[in-house]
Amino acid sequence: CGIVGYVGKRDSQNILIDGLKKLEYRGYDSAGVAVYTTEGLQIKKSKGRLAVLESKLEEAPLNGNIGIGHTRWATHGKPSDVNSHPHTDNSSKFSVVHNGIIENYISLKEELIAQGHVFVSETDTEVISHLIASLYEGDIVRAVQKAVTRMRGAFALGVLTEHEPEKLVAVRLSSPLIIGVGEGENFIGSDIPAILEHTRNVYILNDGEMALLTKDDVTLMTLEGNFISRELFHVDWDIVTAEKAGFDHFMLKEVYDQPKAYRDTMGARIDASGTKVLLPEVGMTREQIADIRNVHIIACGTAFHAGLVGKSVIETLVRIPVEADVASEYRYRSPIITPQTLVIVVSQSGETADTLAALREAKRNGARVLAITNVVGSSIAREADDVIVTWAGPEIAVASTKAYTSQLIAFFLLGLYLAQTLEKVEAGYVKEVLAAMQELPKQVEQVLAQADSIREVAEQIAKHHNLFFIGRGLDFATALEGSLKLKEISYIHSEAYAAGELKHGTLALIEDGIPVIALATQEVLFEKTVSNIKEVKARGAQVYGIHMEGNDELSKVVDETFAIPQTHQLLAPALSVIPLQLLSYYASLALGHDVDKPRNLAKSVTVE
Ligand code: G6P
Repeated sequence: CGIVGYVGKRDSQNILIDGLKKLEYRGYDSAGVAVYTTEGLQIKKSKGRLAVLESKLEEAPLNGNIGIGHTRWATHGKPSDVNSHPHTDNSSKFSVVHNGIIENYISLKEELIAQGHVFVSETDTEVISHLIASLYEGDIVRAVQKAVTRMRGAFALGVLTEHEPEKLVAVRLSSPLIIGVGEGENFIGSDIPAILEHTRNVYILNDGEMALLTKDDVTLMTLEGNFISRELFHVDWDIVTAEKAGFDHFMLKEVYDQPKAYRDTMGARIDASGTKVLLPEVGMTREQIADIRNVHIIACGTAFHAGLVGKSVIETLVRIPVEADVASEYRYRSPIITPQTLVIVVSQSGETADTLAALREAKRNGARVLAITNVVGSSIAREADDVIVTWAGPEIAVASTKAYTSQLIAFFLLGLYLAQTLEKVEAGYVKEVLAAMQELPKQVEQVLAQADSIREVAEQIAKHHNLFFIGRGLDFATALEGSLKLKEISYIHSEAYAAGELKHGTLALIEDGIPVIALATQEVLFEKTVSNIKEVKARGAQVYGIHMEGNDELSKVVDETFAIPQTHQLLAPALSVIPLQLLSYYASLALGHDVDKPRNLAKSVTVE
């Protein structure tokens, strides 16, 4: 979910809506605003995209200089008008927007019902507004503090009351929240882009902190009420980088952003002579690195697929055992974590609740935690010991593209850095890989130049209901990512299979005409993969092969081939995933789906 809030001299309604537009990637099954008007606190909310709310507000605007807004991704209670935020209490004098989950809301709700409160929604959030109302004794800050001590869970809140109509209260506990400081006006937002149009000066709240905003002041304090002084953070990003820059969709723009994202992520991390990786942000000494016995890579979704590539890269270069887990499984399988374990968490947003929880578990067990993230100042970035930032820039489309490939670049750099520090690889080898890495941005452009032929394949694929992606080794990791991308935005069912595993069961599903995307970029595995391709061909599959230039053998076996430029074996995933991203984009387009906002998914999932 996403939260915004405004207090100042201007009419708040449009400021709230604009902020919510920037936050829609956090969920978009319903939206709402509460504004203090001449008729008191008024709420307008509705199920559906923000546009639905916008047209309601056009018909009957809410005029007032203080308000809060919300875009929802349903957790408790289905998407509906009543379950939308803001929520209020029976007096309608309090209103609350909330991101996160209140774990003990059922017992709180029972307690409040016994006191005579009447509930209208199925949400945990409604409980908060009633709780605050029941604890209110003339001071909204105090009432919110008291309410928070009763609530268990992870949340960020924005609270207004008609009793003190000049005050906006914000709380952060495990869900992101920032404060924007303007002149004669102040803002709250779930992230910086939500308020960037109005101010570049922000305070980033930490867990367990709250703020009282009036039009002229921002007071930061702990939940216990102790005042906090903090320096303003000046945001120097460019708002247009978050816009579509002429592309039809954010996803396509982000796919084409990749050459720049690669260059920016490598940036000053390769020394001028091209022989060494420089990672000053990794604060481990040589001794600490030498002490690492095993590595755990933890992430969710697409970031997990980057982690699978990372596992191969680190094991190949550093020869340390690496496990890769999805974060929601990691914590509950009693992983063997010791102070000699290096835990690497990978997260575009830096806010994914499952990944954050796994990070905390790792730290509790004494591991050193290194984060690879795209968001500076995110929760994961702040809690990790070391942070490698991927400089992909803001990623808006729900389906991750440039953030994923930048994570791959980060893993290549990290693997080389560890190997070079421990002298596990020859200097000449490092130089060779780095030279190949520096070619990648140009090579990505070469792949993108062939978008039209990928579009044709995508239009064929869009006619099917099932397909397969196969590959071995690093190609298998890419197959998983290609399949996920296609499922996310085209809703076509596909499965990614380790090519050699197909014959152990899934081959039964191969029938005449079924599309199979076969990745065969890994030279040492090439012959083996070709044998597996022949197995599916023999059963009637329509095979599209992806291989490296200079090896045309594949065209003899498959129906159509697509070549990526020559690169080092380890780096191939940074090129071979590009045609798969375009494939899913054009398949989604052909089917008329909402590419940037696929149904049921959210960009950043801040619940477990
Ligand atoms: C959500 C998104 C995925 C993303 C995953 C992890 O499920 O829809 O695209 O890969 O979260 O997000 P993170 O921000 O931690 O990389």
